[in-house]
Amino acid sequence: MTRTIHPSRSPVKDTLQIPGDKSISHRAFLLAALADGESRIAGALTTGDVKATIGCLRGLGINLSLDGSAATVHGCGLDGLQPVKGPLDCCRSGTTMRLLAGILAGRSFDTILSGDTQLRRRPMRRVVEPLRRMGADITDTEGRAPLRIRGRQLRGIDYTLPVASAQVKSALVLAGLTASGATIVRQPGPARDHTERLLAAMGATIETDGLEVTVHPGQSLTPLRLQVPGDLSSAAFPIVAATLLPGSDLALPGIGVNPTRAGLLDVLNEMGADIQRANERAETGEPVADLHVRWAALRATEISGQTVVRMIDEFPVLAVAATQACGTTVVRDAAELRVKESDRIEALSIELRALGARIESCADGFAIEGPSQLHGGRVDSHGDHRLAMALTVAGLIADGPVILEDASAAADSYPGFFEQMRCLGGAR
Ligand code: S3P
Repeated sequence: MTRTIHPSRSPVKDTLQIPGDKSISHRAFLLAALADGESRIAGALTTGDVKATIGCLRGLGINLSLDGSAATVHGCGLDGLQPVKGPLDCCRSGTTMRLLAGILAGRSFDTILSGDTQLRRRPMRRVVEPLRRMGADITDTEGRAPLRIRGRQLRGIDYTLPVASAQVKSALVLAGLTASGATIVRQPGPARDHTERLLAAMGATIETDGLEVTVHPGQSLTPLRLQVPGDLSSAAFPIVAATLLPGSDLALPGIGVNPTRAGLLDVLNEMGADIQRANERAETGEPVADLHVRWAALRATEISGQTVVRMIDEFPVLAVAATQACGTTVVRDAAELRVKESDRIEALSIELRALGARIESCADGFAIEGPSQLHGGRVDSHGDHRLAMALTVAGLIADGPVILEDASAAADSYPGFFEQMRCLGGAR
């Protein structure tokens, strides 16, 4: 689907309810399925990528009912999943495939995990290889999906992740729940820790010591009562829009501000943004706050190292902010961006340049010289939800209409995105 984004003529003055956190929603459904009894999850994302997780769990025999963003999941215990005939379809969702690989490798039955062409291009060896070290029998397709998993008893390992990946860490932790002996995962950087927090809330024996996580097998999981916070990775788009549109004043209640996810807030504030947190609280072990964003002038910054890990999904929209910042914003140590839903370094360079941005890419990042007045033009999301939404924000600040191809990708993580952007004055 093609959308036309018109320049916003007015400041953003609104309160937006942001859909539930995608990463937490995936994990809540997966872990609730493994709990002993009935879990209730409110505020979940139940569409887009998370729908793939829900579909796979139903295929594995889980009784799960949905009422909007509220869900009841009848958990079957750590070893109650049922064999499924035929492949499980993970659609476009890397989180579904990698986390399920960890859960299914230690079962007493075989499964095939598949997905659409975009997902079948993404690297799976990073999860298959350590699972094999745990004793898993998995056949991949030249390091990619489909994955044929022959379930068997696993053993715990001590593993150092070559890249900071929450999906791989979570897969190993989930496999560790039914392995023999402890599983230790050491990370090079602070990848999001929602799996650890949820497991702790469900009574699992899981220890975190800096960047090291240890999980012990054998304990049953107590059911969840969870309110999923708003997704900061979705909030990032209206946050940047409000920061860039003069006179804006935007309220975003109930957003997850887990420090392993909140790198963008730190970086934007360092660039001069005005983002305030209020009513900070914890909900089922996750930090949550109400955010308040006002327009501000930005200056360039440099982003590298562990900050990259803490904002790995936010570079498309950060790049749009950087086009309006004074000076050259430099991003390094971000080669992981090349294996997301698109090659985000390449795709951002092509699409932002088409709108007049001055951007140069390199193997592990990019540099953007600002400020530059973006102009209208024709751009493509590359089937990547975060590209679609970042280019929409670019359209709001451009001086002419931006025609966005494959705009519907936005719904993978942010249902209602274009409707909300319309109230911010732009997307048609
Ligand atoms: C996610 C982890 C990150 C992130 C993705 C969601 C998760 O991927 O980019 O959007 O929910 O665990 P990696 O684990 O590949 O870094």
